[in-house]
Amino acid sequence: MNMQSPTPATHSADATTVEEGLKIQEDLARFDSEAATAVAMQNTLLTPRFYTTDFDELDAIDVSPVREDWDKLIGQMVSDPNRGHFKKNENWDTVDWEGMEPGLKKEFMDFLISSCTAEFSGCVLYKEMKRRGNNKDITQLFQLMARDEARHAGFINDALREAGVAVNLGFLTQKKKYTYFRPKFIYYATYLSEKIGYARYITIFRHLEAHPEHRFHPIFKWFEEWCNDEFSHGEAFALLMKTDPKLTSGINVYWIKFFLTAVYSTMYVRDHQRPRFHAALGVDPDWYAHEVFTKTSALSKQIFPITLDIEHPRWQRGLVRLQKANADLAEARAQSGIGARLRTLGAQARAGLAFVNLLTIPAVSHKVPAQTRMEPAY
Ligand SMILES: [Fe+2]
Ligand SMILES: [Fe+2]
Repeated sequence: MNMQSPTPATHSADATTVEEGLKIQEDLARFDSEAATAVAMQNTLLTPRFYTTDFDELDAIDVSPVREDWDKLIGQMVSDPNRGHFKKNENWDTVDWEGMEPGLKKEFMDFLISSCTAEFSGCVLYKEMKRRGNNKDITQLFQLMARDEARHAGFINDALREAGVAVNLGFLTQKKKYTYFRPKFIYYATYLSEKIGYARYITIFRHLEAHPEHRFHPIFKWFEEWCNDEFSHGEAFALLMKTDPKLTSGINVYWIKFFLTAVYSTMYVRDHQRPRFHAALGVDPDWYAHEVFTKTSALSKQIFPITLDIEHPRWQRGLVRLQKANADLAEARAQSGIGARLRTLGAQARAGLAFVNLLTIPAVSHKVPAQTRMEPAY
């Protein structure tokens, strides 16, 4: 198998390795802006983080129990159906950044910067695993996933550059704080973020297919192929978890519930911070959240023995409470003085309580199918 392209790529979409893709982005970095990079540097509970883990433990995984499915999935990723896809072409309509309503522009840029950071967070983690590992199966998978995420992040940065900003990815790699997660937490968190990413992208894509008048930016046209990459990445993590039944049984089921609740509620709170963006898309954020949770739950049944009861009356109420507490928290943090400090503490306590309340909703148990692999069907 030849992983090198015959001629060096000039766009990250054509890069066949993560190193090549990142080099192209680095050459462009002299045009990148401090403001966008500063937003990407933020580390709060709600902003995308960078992760590090015990790479030796990950490297020790033996994929023999899932060999047949594994080889099929890797073969599909090696065939690289999306090579060259993530760049502007004749379908890229002119974007009127100047004429965009300022509130929408601010929220949309925030959406792009945080998506770019999230894509790049995956890229950095996967690339590091590939660099540190010796296990051929593991390093090959992580090289392929890092390749995809570098393209995704690069493409979002292209869109940002048109608006006069971009995230300096090299700077981020060196300076952003890394959060340590043990490998099993990386599996739960990353599996879920890949699958919820798929559900988010495909839900917006299908909605805009039916309502093209709401497609206010061309990047949404690229979401279908995009979400298929995320789908494959999620499949890979499902297979990794399948190699060790302990990861999805016993006490770990509580951890799975914790991660499901954290990932779903973070998405809910974050999306509700962007009302103008969702109005422009013609999407009700409550409908969107429910739709994405429904799809993600259906997918995660492939490997997780529980799903969250998102139809429970306390679920939606709890999300609203959590979101209100977070909005109050942001407002109090922007002010100074003892009153603001007290309001900050109060809002933090309310947010914590709302989250614990969501965690106590009984989960729905089910039998995990013998066959793990799924195909994108939405
Ligand atoms: Fe991605
Ligand atoms: Fe991904």
